[in-house]
Amino acid sequence: MSTAATDIYYDPYDFAIDQNPYPVWTRMREEMPLYYNERYDFYALSRYADVEEASVDWQTYTSSKGILMEMVKAGIPTPPGLFIAEDPPQHDMHRLILSRAVTPRRVQVLEARIRELCAEYLDPLVGSGRFDLMQDFASHLPMRVIGALVGIPDEYLLNLRDHVEESARLTEEKPQDEQRLPSIGEPYAPFLKYRKANPADDFLTTLIQARFTDVFTKEERGLTDAEILNYVGMLYAAGVETTARLIGWLGKVLSDNPAQRAEVVADRSLVANTVEETLRFEVPSPIQVRVTVKPVELHGQTVEEGKIVTLLTGAANRDPRVFPDPDTFDIHRKIDAHLTFGKGVHYCFGAALARIEGRIALEEFLARFSNWHVDMSEAELIHTATIRGFHKLPVEI
Ligand code: HEM
Repeated sequence: MSTAATDIYYDPYDFAIDQNPYPVWTRMREEMPLYYNERYDFYALSRYADVEEASVDWQTYTSSKGILMEMVKAGIPTPPGLFIAEDPPQHDMHRLILSRAVTPRRVQVLEARIRELCAEYLDPLVGSGRFDLMQDFASHLPMRVIGALVGIPDEYLLNLRDHVEESARLTEEKPQDEQRLPSIGEPYAPFLKYRKANPADDFLTTLIQARFTDVFTKEERGLTDAEILNYVGMLYAAGVETTARLIGWLGKVLSDNPAQRAEVVADRSLVANTVEETLRFEVPSPIQVRVTVKPVELHGQTVEEGKIVTLLTGAANRDPRVFPDPDTFDIHRKIDAHLTFGKGVHYCFGAALARIEGRIALEEFLARFSNWHVDMSEAELIHTATIRGFHKLPVEI
């Protein structure tokens, strides 16, 4: 099998492909499991087994060169604490400290808050007949949830959402190579300053007071301001856009599958698996980026050191070798493990929270609306190099 002569074409920047990437992903999986894109100089793995194997093998596939192709190509060094773009042992050190700040009690308090927030957005929509599921609900909720976790007041968040969404967005006028990378931690600096002066029993204070042994210097130290700010910026960047798209996809796939929706309406014990199947079926962040640190043999070819290898989790989740009849949405499907949250050391830090948000958002939506229809003529996908889902999704009740 050769990657040279082919009519298969895929890149994550192409708006037309992004509309429906499944046909090309199917061809890549079956005909060219190691795909090479000459234009942007990257490889892609699309089979479940390959994506899974590469995800756990951080010794071959590093994250430390960046987690967006633009970041890798620009040679931007990883800001300290941004452990999604670090390898072990720094990655493990930074992840462990952050995980201590997300205590089970803090997550439990969040559950009640998520329900309140759903009511705040959904109650005014009851009786309206038509609204935008993204603009009126899904785009707001995850940002408010991360704000509640971190302890950042709501007023400030509203500006930040536009900042994060706008900086990640690609447009025809602003293609990928002119992209600004989000200035990740900086907008949160005033809160850090405030919390340092006014400690409380909260997330930021836990980080401010954390002590640990640095894996390099072997000295005990606290986190720097840059590390704390990058943590917060990373939680927003990783947790807001993705979870918003999940909620949008729930609205879309259930509108497309009214018989299954009627089953969930009648039996709420099906909600959790409906969220799981939606996560498998429409992946909010379907492409992960790695760089090889040594030559690697894949499907009879050698990929040299220093090459970008993308892991197409969205394609892997539709691999018929693992999921029978993969292009069918089935809320009763037994799902052992989809790859939507990645795998290995970088397995999504917020997976539990994302599932809780998806479940509560769906429960609260169904408590108010049991029958809706998506108006695709007015729907718009958001275009970023890593996120796939809706920016606008009008629904008629
Ligand atoms: C449906 C929603 C979500 C999806 C689809 C998603 C997906 C992912 C994926 C695929 C990765 C692995 C990236 C890689 O291997 O390079 C990841 C990592 C991560 N996610 Fe999520 N995520 C979601 C929600 C969240 C939320 C709500 C948070 C924050 C509370 C979050 C925080 C993170 C962090 C911090 C990492 C880095 C983990 C590490 O490198 O150890 N994510 N996520």
